[in-house]
Amino acid sequence: MKHETAVMEQAMSLRTEAYWMPFTHNRYFKKNPSSRILARAEGAYYTTAEGKRLFDCVSGMWCCPLGHGHPRIAEAVARQVKELDYSPAFQMGHPKIFSLAERIVQLAPAGMGQVFFANSGSEAVDTALKIAVAYHRMKGEAARTRLIGRERAYHGVGIGGISVGGMAPNRRMFAPLLLPHTYNAAEMAFSRGQPKWGAHLADELERLVALHDASTIAAVIVEPVQGSAGVIVPPTGYLERLRAICDKHGILLIFDEVITGFGRLGEAFGAQRFGVVPDMITFAKIVTNGVVPMGGVIVKPAIHDAFMTGPETAVELFHGYTYSGHPVAAAAAHATLDAIEEEASFKQVRELEPVLERAAHSLKGEPGVSDIRNIGLVAAVELEPLRENGQARPGARALKVFERAMEDGMLFRFTGDIIAMAPPFISTQTEIGRMVEVLRGAIRATH
Ligand SMILES: Cc1ncc(COP(=O)(O)O)c(C=O)c1O
Repeated sequence: MKHETAVMEQAMSLRTEAYWMPFTHNRYFKKNPSSRILARAEGAYYTTAEGKRLFDCVSGMWCCPLGHGHPRIAEAVARQVKELDYSPAFQMGHPKIFSLAERIVQLAPAGMGQVFFANSGSEAVDTALKIAVAYHRMKGEAARTRLIGRERAYHGVGIGGISVGGMAPNRRMFAPLLLPHTYNAAEMAFSRGQPKWGAHLADELERLVALHDASTIAAVIVEPVQGSAGVIVPPTGYLERLRAICDKHGILLIFDEVITGFGRLGEAFGAQRFGVVPDMITFAKIVTNGVVPMGGVIVKPAIHDAFMTGPETAVELFHGYTYSGHPVAAAAAHATLDAIEEEASFKQVRELEPVLERAAHSLKGEPGVSDIRNIGLVAAVELEPLRENGQARPGARALKVFERAMEDGMLFRFTGDIIAMAPPFISTQTEIGRMVEVLRGAIRATH
């Protein structure tokens, strides 16, 4: 109890100037930080420094679906720190990382073979893009250097990730090729699960290929469900068509499953949920339940094997990170996968999917709600922006809703005027119901 009070007191007397916060309105936050300082977490709840309990509506940042302070993961991490806290990532190995790679390949769709480890989603994406370009070079097609992303995509913030990302503020300085996003309010507003309209948008890839020639294109990268841009669910048949066009032109297809990997859609990966197998899958977040940073790329054996040429004593891929395959992250990942198995997490998600769908769509008709969409244990509510002197003020309404909901014990996330929900897999039906009712109240109160 003493320790708890000390944690709270320390949090309340913070000096905030020295910390430059990522993706945060620093000046606004620092004017009144106390309600936004998290002091503790347990299960599906945070406690702020002011002692307020908040339901974790987005599983941390999409990454902690098994709940906070999971005993199995906490014990595995503590044990690992004592047993082997760090092991050089290059030219050396440790048992847990080999067995983890094998486990991840087994969870992945049939046909995948190896895992390259990184420490975040951004690093995983940069790794996959580098592998794609290098793979073609190894196969004698060195001109295949172009990468194709998609509008409204979020692939992290490395130079590689932003160059294929499609969120305008993140990519102002880079401008490579992009496919159109698949969102069209007129055709798909209030869809439940996959929208029926929009498979033809994949044909835009043919247009880009015709323009730039397949011989210059290395890979296409897409999130199966676009997460950070506000939950854009792929139209039925769209991913299948992308796969077919990539196959026709020898272009690698990369699924960025940093959000969808390890259960968010009720299957291990979105690839299985949608029945489309890409050439590479990037992952991060849920692989350790958010406890220790880890990311990685799963590749098909044909990609891996293309590098396994030349003298055996030569390094095959000049890429890696000091913390690739970190033992503490590996221990956390094993414990997470054990817990996912034991708690039948994917089944939990499948059971909760209709509960979240029903609850979220009950917000249709609330003031200013322009769309609601969902799949797996993810949903988004899009709001019409506030207007001032006839001018839209994007994001202002969602910020109000976010702050109001926090007063009522719910921690949401928002992008522009889209409120995202990705509750923990351990949520009860009652908690999901309460989350949506608080959102309803906040939407009404801020209209
Ligand atoms: C699809 C996707 N890719 C990559 C990233 C970047 O991950 P990180 O923040 O771990 O670098 C994210 C983060 O949300 C993501 O959603």
